This record gives sequence, structure tokens and C-alpha cells, in this order.
Amino acid sequence: MKTYYFDNSATSSPKPERVLRALDLSVREYNANPGRAGHRKAVETGRKIYEVREKIAQFFNVKNSLNIAFTANATEALNFAIKGGIPEKSHVITTNFEHNSVLRPLFYMRDEKEVKLTFVNTYDEIEKNITSETKAVVINHISNVNGTVQDIDVIGKICKKYSLLFILDASQSAGYSYIDMEKYNIDILCLTGHKSLFGIQGIGAICLKDGVEIRPLLEGGTGSFSKLLRQPKEMPELLEAGTLNTPGIMSLGAGIDFINEIGLDKIREHENRLSERFLSGLKDIEKIKVYKSLTNEQGPVISLNIDGVDSGDLAQILDEEFGIFVRSGFHCAPLAHKTIGTYEQGAVRFSFGYFNTYKEIEFVLSVLKNIALQI
Ligand code: ALA
Repeated sequence: MKTYYFDNSATSSPKPERVLRALDLSVREYNANPGRAGHRKAVETGRKIYEVREKIAQFFNVKNSLNIAFTANATEALNFAIKGGIPEKSHVITTNFEHNSVLRPLFYMRDEKEVKLTFVNTYDEIEKNITSETKAVVINHISNVNGTVQDIDVIGKICKKYSLLFILDASQSAGYSYIDMEKYNIDILCLTGHKSLFGIQGIGAICLKDGVEIRPLLEGGTGSFSKLLRQPKEMPELLEAGTLNTPGIMSLGAGIDFINEIGLDKIREHENRLSERFLSGLKDIEKIKVYKSLTNEQGPVISLNIDGVDSGDLAQILDEEFGIFVRSGFHCAPLAHKTIGTYEQGAVRFSFGYFNTYKEIEFVLSVLKNIALQI
């Protein structure tokens, strides 16, 4: 059975050939422990890691590549940012479209560190909620439920005006949106490598603006300052305790090379065209309720329900009968579902990637039309 992968918000599939080659090379050749010894093999592996740090710095305009620490995923980066960067007893503004990777650390801060939280739907509600206690804004750039895009240009300007820490969760946007840490005044950028950046699972990164201070949550070996009995204060060691994930890092580097080769604009244009066609096709199908962006910009993530059909059942029919892979349910974003009115039913999410085609969209539209007709 031919299959159709529309679950790129969960992880991108397939991966570019060059990512597979980088992975092979990382395990076959660059397999010493970087930064842990002075022999040539360790140094060569360390050089590969350095190259990827530089690629990330260039791609997101991180002024100092040493301010980039590799993490296991965006969740780890966001925990570092939220628990290590937000002061106790302060006030934070965030959105209802956050993933649990932001919500859970924020609710921990509320319960354990007396941090007050304010939730808004869109970026244009941030400024009026700022109080004298507000210290940070934590924003999901693109919702993993309905593709709501928050305007990071506007948010960055507000954060600068009021001296607020701007923490950006770019899990769904890195590799699709144009993100420039300097231009948009982003203080802490949290990334995952395995979605639109085309790396493998198990790699992410946290990027800090110069001068941003974070308390480490993990302590351990860094290969440097070995006699120091506390975690080094220098980045990236401050946030990189333990052996690094060289295969993940090299896959991420190759993913960025792939994006640079194709061009971010071209990738974005392609995914936008797919989303637009999907949305326009859905308009013609009665009984389908579509959940799209709440702002005037739509990311390549769209959810829907068919009247009277459980979202899990629909996803199962799509998979088993038509080879269409989507994610149903609540997408680890409970407040987003409350906001769009799907807290009970959940929704069926379609998330597009560079390797999806226009033809695939036509096919899925025809399938949805047939299912809706039969209900
Ligand atoms: N955060 C990922 C998703 O939305 C796993 O599916």
C-alpha cells in the first residue's frame, strides 16, 4: 500500500539522503568522545561538533556560537530556559497554544517558585498584560495544533521595550520560518533537531543571547575544567553535562546544509502552497470542521474533525484503509484544544513537510470527501 506521511509536526519523514550519510559517517568515522581526550580521533570528532555549532549560529544568527548548547530535545532546552532563566516570584506571559514542554515547566514554576502566569491567545494581547512583575514572555512560535503563527518581530520589540526575557519555542518553526536571534531580540531560542531541521530524534539545542544568564539543571562531566567541583559557568559547558550525541549533532548539521541548499524560502513556499490547497479543498467538504491559525499567518499544521466521528477513529480509518498517517487526539497541547473547542473530541492533525506533494494533498482531500459523504 502506498503511504502518505502527514505527521511532520511530530517528526519529519523521510530524512534527506545527506542526513543519512552524515549519520553513517558519525558512527563509522567520527565516533570518539569529543572534548574528552587530546588524541586525533577525539579532536576530529570535536571539530565536527564545532562545525555544527557554527552552522546553527549562522542559520539563526546567534552572535556567539559558544552560546549554543546541544540538548536532547526542545523539551530539555525549554526546561533549561524556563526553570533556569525565569526568576522566582515573577510574572510570565505565555499563550494557550503552548505544548506541554512549556506548560509543565511553567506550572512547576507556578507551584514551586511562586511565578504568576498569564495566558493569551495571540501576540497582540501581550503588551496589555504586562505588569511591574512581568519578567518573561514564553512563546510557541507556531502551534502544533492549528498552525497559529505568533509574530516574533512584534514580540521581540515588546520584550525589548519592557526589558523582558524573550524565550522562543521554535519546535515547529525552525527550518520553516525565518528566525534571526538578533533581529527579533530573542533571548533564548529553543530548538529541536528532528522536525523541519531534518535531523534525527534525540537532538536539540538552546541558544542564548550574549549576557543571558541561566542556572544549570544538570551537572556532570564536560571534558574541561576537570578539577572544578561545580559545573563550569562558561557556555556551552554550563548546559552540556555528559557525553554529547555526535550522531544527532552531525545529522542536524546535514539537515541545515540540506535547507541551505534548497533555500528556506523555497521550502516555506512549497509548504505554504500545500497548506493553501488543503484549506481551499476542505472548504468544499460539508461536515468537516477545520481548525486553522488564529492570526493572519498560517503554519503548515492544520487540524480538523468530521461531524460525529471520534478523532482517533478517523485517524485509524485514514491509516488502515488509505495509508494516510496523521496524529489525532490532543497533541500534548491541552490548552490549545480548550481554546479551539476540541477539549473533549480532540482533532485530527495534518502537518506538512518539504517532501509532501501537491498530488498527495489532492488524494487526501478526495479521501476525506468520501468519508464525509458516507457519514
Ligand atoms: N510535539 C510533537 C507533536 O506535536 C511530538 O506531535
